[in-house]
Parts: sequence; C-alpha cells; structure tokens
Amino acid sequence: MISVAIDGPAGAGKSTVARKVAAKKGYIYVDTGALYRTVAYSAYINGVSFDDNEKIVAHLDGINVDIAYRGDEQRVLLNGEDVSDSIRTPIMSEGASKVSAIPEVRAFLLGLQRKLAAEHNVVMDGRDIATVVLPDATVKIFLTASAELRARRRYDELIAKGQTVEYEDIYNDLLKRDHRDSTREVAPLKPAEDSVLVDTSELNFEEAVNAVCIVIDKTVG
Ligand code: DC
Repeated sequence: MISVAIDGPAGAGKSTVARKVAAKKGYIYVDTGALYRTVAYSAYINGVSFDDNEKIVAHLDGINVDIAYRGDEQRVLLNGEDVSDSIRTPIMSEGASKVSAIPEVRAFLLGLQRKLAAEHNVVMDGRDIATVVLPDATVKIFLTASAELRARRRYDELIAKGQTVEYEDIYNDLLKRDHRDSTREVAPLKPAEDSVLVDTSELNFEEAVNAVCIVIDKTVG
C-alpha cells in the first residue's frame, strides 16, 4: 500500500491540497484532524470540559469514532451518527487542539488511522502522521505557510460558510493552537527527519497541489 503523510500547522492548506492530490492519484483521503474534532464534539455534547482530562479519558469508553466515505468525501461518525458538519466550528478547533494533547485520546484514535493506511492507498493529513502514525509512510510532506496567510485562509473559509468571525480572533486562535500543538509532550507538531518541506505562502492552490504531486512522483513514479 502507498501512504502519503502530509503534516503541518492549522490553515496551511493541508486538507484542500491533500484532498485534491488524493483524487488525482486515486487514493483515499484521510483527514485525521476530523477525528480529534469528533472527540472534542463528543465531550462538548456530553457536558465534559475540554480541560478536564480525567473525564475526557473516562468518556472515551462509551464512544465510537469512525470514518465513512460518501463518494470521495470523508464523513466522520460519532456512535454511527454523521457529525462532519458540527465539528467545523472555532469551538471545536480549540477543543480538538486541547483534547489531542491527551495521550489516551491519541492512543484511542491511532488504531483507526493505521487500519485505514493498511487497507488503502492513502493521503493522510494531520500533525504527527509522518512522525508517529505512519513512520514508514511512502512519502512524507510537511506543508506550511506564514501565520498571516494561514489565518486569512481560515477566515475566508469560515466566512464562506456563513459563520460570523473576526480576522483578529482567528489569527490569535491560530497562534495559540500552533503553540499548543507544537509544544505538547506527546506527538508534537514537527516535521519528520525525512519529511520534504513545502511552503505554500507563495503558491496558489494548483501550484501547491503540483508541488506535492512532484514529491510523490519522485518516489512512487
Ligand atoms: O487539522 P485540524 O485543524 O482539523 O486539527 C484540529 C486539531 O487536532 C489540531 O489543533 C491538532 C489536532 N490534531 C492532532 O493533534 N493530530 C493530528 N494528526 C491531527 C489534528
């Protein structure tokens, strides 16, 4: 099986680029951030605070997180219910960043991610795919861009979805998230030693997709 790991900070364009690359190559796309968001959402609807690690861990026993595909589109299921739309809010971004720092939460989601990569050719995006989830990935890419650009992209995305947000809030949340994601003890956001760095600050969408495809083609052909 072929696995393409794409890691990087929030808003670097990982998911849109990874989705397009997967479609071009005929691989399945796995958005692992959605899994952490689903755990956060589950805590949220069960009244568990994102800061109460003990309760977050305890509540994992009663939940099931899974991925399904509607055509090419990934959907995330919480106890069989499609929650893909509910997890795309700033509250769940913050919640996912917090719960993802808990080792038991990472362990809870690890098997599902590895199973998908064992059964399919995948483009998998996240923070620790090349370093922890798939250390033997066929291709490892670290996709990044300047914080201002990443915040601007995230802002445009949310506005396009009709949400009411301020650019300053998005920018500050993003810096906070970057810091939390890269300084946590377990599986922090960082490039693997053998990752190829792709900076999308100066690239448009098609150019970013092409840059990633060139890296893949060099290895996979
Ligand atoms: O990519 P995203 O914004 O949907 O991710 C939400 C949060 O989940 C992010 O702040 C960090 C966490 N995450 C992680 O720790 N490991 C991953 N492989 C993917 C996401």
